[in-house]
Order: sequence, then structure tokens, then C-alpha cells
Amino acid sequence: MTKLREMYKCSVCGNVIEVVHQGASALVCCNTPMEKLEAKAEDTGREKHVPVLEASGDGILVKVGSVEHPMEEKHSIRFIEVLTKDQVIRAELVPGQKPAAEFSVKPEEVLEVREYCNLHGLWKINK
Ligand SMILES: [Fe+2]
Repeated sequence: MTKLREMYKCSVCGNVIEVVHQGASALVCCNTPMEKLEAKAEDTGREKHVPVLEASGDGILVKVGSVEHPMEEKHSIRFIEVLTKDQVIRAELVPGQKPAAEFSVKPEEVLEVREYCNLHGLWKINK
């Protein structure tokens, strides 16, 4: 059974989806069951993926990561999401942009921040 806010990826075509209303017992893409994405929370290796939060005006600035992540056509951060009790706020990024986004959300309301790298998957920081 899927759960609200879970993310799944198709291992065949690369589709990534987020559950916005739970109900399906299984998600299928390209005639293959989709794989649930588990967000990693600890960086390994040279590239840094775990989001970093900073206060910014009335909201927050999220950077990926502690060392700036590449934003190339073949390897980049595709989105950053901020999860609160009742909202999912997503910034969509494109190659060439900075791997960062500002969100108008009070820092104390943030439950989780996650980002998706097209090569290295889903990463998060729990507040
Ligand atoms: Fe990456």
C-alpha cells in the first residue's frame, strides 16, 4: 500500500512520482513494479547531497549540499522539497541553475527537506 508523500521510481524509464493521495496497492510503469525511493540522510563519497538549511528573510534557503552539487545536463538536482505538517512545497531546478532554492516557510514549521539527484537519488534532512 502506498503512503502519502512517498516517492517511487521506474527502473526502466526513470519516471519519478510522488503519492499525493494514497490508495494504490502497487504502482507499475513500463510493465514493471516501481521502486520506492528511500531518502538517504548521510553523505558518502566526495559529492554532497544532504540538503543544508539557512535562515533567509522570513523563510529558509536550502542548498545542496555542504559542497555545491553539480548542475550539468547529465547530472543535476532536479527538485528540492520542503515538507511541513500539511504542505509539500517543491522547487523545480534545471541544469545551469544553482542547486538551491528559497522557501517562504517558517523554519519551525519544517518537518523534512529532501532533494532528488537524477543520478544519486533521494536525500533528506530531518529537522
Ligand atoms: Fe549527484
